[in-house]
Amino acid sequence: MLGYRGFQSRGASNGLINAGEPMREFKGRVAVITGGASGIGLALARSLGAEGMKLVIADVDEAALKAAEAELKAAGREVLAQRTDVSKAEDVKALADAAVARFGAVNLLFNNAGVGGFQRFETTGAATWDWIIGVNLWGVIHGCRIFMPILDAQDEAHIVNTASVAGIYSYQFLHPYNAAKAAVVALSEGMWREFATTKPHVGISVLLPASVDTAIVNDERNAPLGHVKRSEADPALAEFRKMYVAGISAGKSPTEVAQITLQGIRERQLHIFTHPETRAMVTMRAEDIAAGAPLRSL
Ligand SMILES: NC(=O)c1ccc[n+]([C@@H]2O[C@H](COP(=O)([O-])OP(=O)(O)OC[C@H]3O[C@@H](n4cnc5c(N)ncnc54)[C@H](O)[C@@H]3O)[C@@H](O)[C@H]2O)c1
Repeated sequence: MLGYRGFQSRGASNGLINAGEPMREFKGRVAVITGGASGIGLALARSLGAEGMKLVIADVDEAALKAAEAELKAAGREVLAQRTDVSKAEDVKALADAAVARFGAVNLLFNNAGVGGFQRFETTGAATWDWIIGVNLWGVIHGCRIFMPILDAQDEAHIVNTASVAGIYSYQFLHPYNAAKAAVVALSEGMWREFATTKPHVGISVLLPASVDTAIVNDERNAPLGHVKRSEADPALAEFRKMYVAGISAGKSPTEVAQITLQGIRERQLHIFTHPETRAMVTMRAEDIAAGAPLRSL
């Protein structure tokens, strides 16, 4: 334990980490948003556009991407839209190249694209695991890794990796999603510790939403061949899924989530909680683990 504390505090006194300064200026800067054609991603694009940022929106859904591009252009925004499958490194590299070719820089990166839904462990096949881990985890890794040299070259930059409360509280029937989102939390925290001293001009946040009223309930619209629809693979969970859909449609608006996210960047928050009540889930889990007790459920 002491060894880790010593290692962690190297370069800063008393174990305190230099967390860097928040990004001061959004206007005229460049934001890249994956999953930018729908939901939280599109709301971020609208909010950042209103702040005067140049926008790069990336999405695997070409029709939705075109519609989002048209909407943002009609609102007078400078926007580049590029079809991208974030699970493919070559697509993310092409996105980074296109962003730099068009705007010359990237200051804000939102690794936001995501998919996932409820299914029991024994009905979740390998193709479904590959798909959900590919988008939710590899998409974030590719984004961080490939955009890093570009972000590092800016005077101010910030990455927001979208996880979920599922990254800190593992739900039943949500295994690939839980695993990917917990990994996104871990990746973001590790990067935050490392960059606090080595790259303080590159801020890191991890977004932890609970229910937000988006099209995520229809995530299978973008599923690859090989994924068996959950309604077919696991019809026994039909009633449970109905409750999930109702919960999502009663969730926060993506616009509000985008505003909270921008505030989180301005305050350089590492963990951005869009639903403050979910902070209690962190405490409950930590208490249960520390006490060696069975995990309580909400
Ligand atoms: N809606 C919620 O309640 C909620 C809660 C917690 C976390 N999240 C997370 O928020 C993020 C945004 O989701 P949302 O709720 O706005 O859903 P959404 O379905 O409205 O938007 C997700 C977007 O990602 C795109 N996408 C899917 N696969 C892709 C791929 N391979 N490459 C590029 N783009 C791809 C979709 O086409 C879609 O436009 C996701 O990471 C999701 O896990 C959502």
